[in-house]
Amino acid sequence: MDWSPLTYITILILLLLPMSAPDDRLALDKTLSPGTTIVSDGGAFTLGFFSPANSTPANLYLGIWYTAIPELTVVWVANRETPVANDTTSAPKLFLTNSSNLVLADGNGGHIFWTTNITTTTSSSSSILPTAVLLNTGSLILRSPNGTTLWQSFEHPTDTFLPGMKIRANYKTHDRDILVSWKRPGDPSPGSFSYSSDPGSFLQFFLWNGSRPVYRSAPWTGYQVSSQYQANNSNLIHQSIINNDEEIYLTYSLADGAAETRYVLTYSGKFQLQSWNKSLSAWAVLGEWPNWECDRYGYCGPYGYCDNTEVLPTCKCLEGFQPASTGEWSSGRFSDGCRRKEVLQCGDGFSPLPSMKVPDGFVHVLNRSMEECAAECARNCSCVGYAQVNLSSSARGDSTRCFMWSGELIDMEKKIGGNVAGSETLHLRVAGLAASGT
Ligand SMILES: *[C@@H]1O[C@H](CO)[C@@H](O)[C@H](O)[C@H]1NC(C)=O
Ligand SMILES: *[C@@H]1O[C@H](CO)[C@@H](O)[C@H](O)[C@H]1NC(C)=O
Ligand SMILES: *[C@@H]1O[C@H](CO)[C@@H](O)[C@H](O)[C@H]1NC(C)=O
Ligand SMILES: *[C@@H]1O[C@H](CO)[C@@H](O)[C@H](O)[C@H]1NC(C)=O
Ligand SMILES: *[C@@H]1O[C@H](CO)[C@@H](O)[C@H](O)[C@H]1NC(C)=O
Ligand SMILES: *[C@@H]1O[C@H](CO)[C@@H](O)[C@H](O)[C@H]1NC(C)=O
Ligand SMILES: *[C@@H]1O[C@H](CO)[C@@H](O)[C@H](O)[C@H]1NC(C)=O
Ligand SMILES: *[C@@H]1O[C@H](CO)[C@@H](O)[C@H](O)[C@H]1NC(C)=O
Ligand SMILES: *[C@@H]1O[C@H](CO)[C@@H](O)[C@H](O)[C@H]1NC(C)=O
Ligand SMILES: *[C@@H]1O[C@H](CO)[C@@H](O)[C@H](O)[C@H]1NC(C)=O
Repeated sequence: MDWSPLTYITILILLLLPMSAPDDRLALDKTLSPGTTIVSDGGAFTLGFFSPANSTPANLYLGIWYTAIPELTVVWVANRETPVANDTTSAPKLFLTNSSNLVLADGNGGHIFWTTNITTTTSSSSSILPTAVLLNTGSLILRSPNGTTLWQSFEHPTDTFLPGMKIRANYKTHDRDILVSWKRPGDPSPGSFSYSSDPGSFLQFFLWNGSRPVYRSAPWTGYQVSSQYQANNSNLIHQSIINNDEEIYLTYSLADGAAETRYVLTYSGKFQLQSWNKSLSAWAVLGEWPNWECDRYGYCGPYGYCDNTEVLPTCKCLEGFQPASTGEWSSGRFSDGCRRKEVLQCGDGFSPLPSMKVPDGFVHVLNRSMEECAAECARNCSCVGYAQVNLSSSARGDSTRCFMWSGELIDMEKKIGGNVAGSETLHLRVAGLAASGT
């Protein structure tokens, strides 16, 4: 056969075309349907349709999972509230619109299950040719031709907090990122557990069951980076809190070469740090909150604290307090907490209790130096305790963080397991204690 050079070139182009088209993205003229996937450049994550193992009836969800992990581990779900029935008559598809949105619709585009639903301000919509790219971090992003990120899945989390993600709270708009658990193993629809920063102070994190707190992190003590979970003589994760005039957020990164590691809010109400153990071919739980009974929100009742220095962590009463009901307390029911042995007098002094997770219900007083914080609590008879720390970065014009308490003291711990970053000194007003000079 006498092939002309042109034929050779055509064959070459035909051979190269499918290979040169990057498979980590979705262009304007492409669709993603069940059976096809998008793999991030680097291969860590895959975007596609999945059916959870024990989902009945067979539902299809659009999600992102770890490519290399044999046990399907989904880190993000688009249509968690609007599953698509897996019937072949009308296979769903994901596509981009020229209004720069990702849309998940049924076969003929009549019913929209999910959309990024962003509004772009530009008038000439036909000139925007956005691309959806799955990054190797696990984030699906919608990018305009000039490189601007228009939308990203990392800012719309489901139940998983991946390295590089942020759990944010915005001081101005009060918008907060919230992780919401799956309902049950085969069902990604929103469960009753959520994890986010405290809507009141933004300085601590809560795990909620509906509207009831299940677990509270220690309030932020000003650290910027805390390294945790020693594995192979190196820190596995570096957790940071970034505080600036606009927002405060929690983020973390992994050490180089670390196994796949993620935080996940489980359907059973635990916030877990999981790492993939290749030799076991299973997720290993490196940390979990709440950790033990005594760790649960308010478990030790008012004025009681969970003492983690004991071999078996147990409830104790703060200095100057005794169990409200000795019978209940000695039979292991702590919810009534403790009561004062003696009535407080206005001039009573303060006792420093070190290594504490300080109680909930504080008033965060802005713009007070360490000395002013202590003095202000001392002169206010309704102030029963205070705690102040230096902030490593000053934001919102503050270089210290001053907390004061006037009501009941609830949800305290001594020596917080696994996380020394939140430990601080609680200055507690104690009956009969002489006020010191300061
Ligand atoms: C959807 O159903 C078809 C036919 O039963 C099956 O082959 C396919 O694996 C299902 N899709 C998913 C993502 O489970
Ligand atoms: C998309 O582009 C087509 C052709 O350029 C145009 O007719 C259509 O109105 C556009 N749709 C939207 C939603 O902008
Ligand atoms: C898109 O957003 C608008 C306004 O925020 C809302 O009214 C509308 O219901 C949303 N559409 C979808 C399909 O979510
Ligand atoms: C990039 O494009 C978006 C719209 O697609 C526009 O809002 C933004 O201002 C542009 N940014 C720059 C730096 O041109
Ligand atoms: C969450 O709340 C529900 C109903 O309020 C309750 O039945 C369940 O035991 C709670 N679970 C946990 C782990 O607190
Ligand atoms: C630590 O891990 C590296 C590779 O990840 C390995 O080469 C080295 O042997 C390990 N060291 C120990 C003490 O396990
Ligand atoms: C995986 O689990 C085995 C058995 O528990 C343990 O010996 C090994 O150290 C683990 N590997 C890693 C990388 O954590
Ligand atoms: C901070 O407090 C000082 C007095 O303690 C006051 O002069 C100053 O105006 C305050 N600044 C702000 C921003 O509130
Ligand atoms: C004393 O503290 C309470 C509670 O923090 C506060 O409501 C009150 O205004 C304070 N009183 C004075 C005089 O500062
Ligand atoms: C806070 O900072 C001040 C001055 O920078 C220093 O004198 C003080 O000891 C610090 N206090 C604590 C508890 O670190």
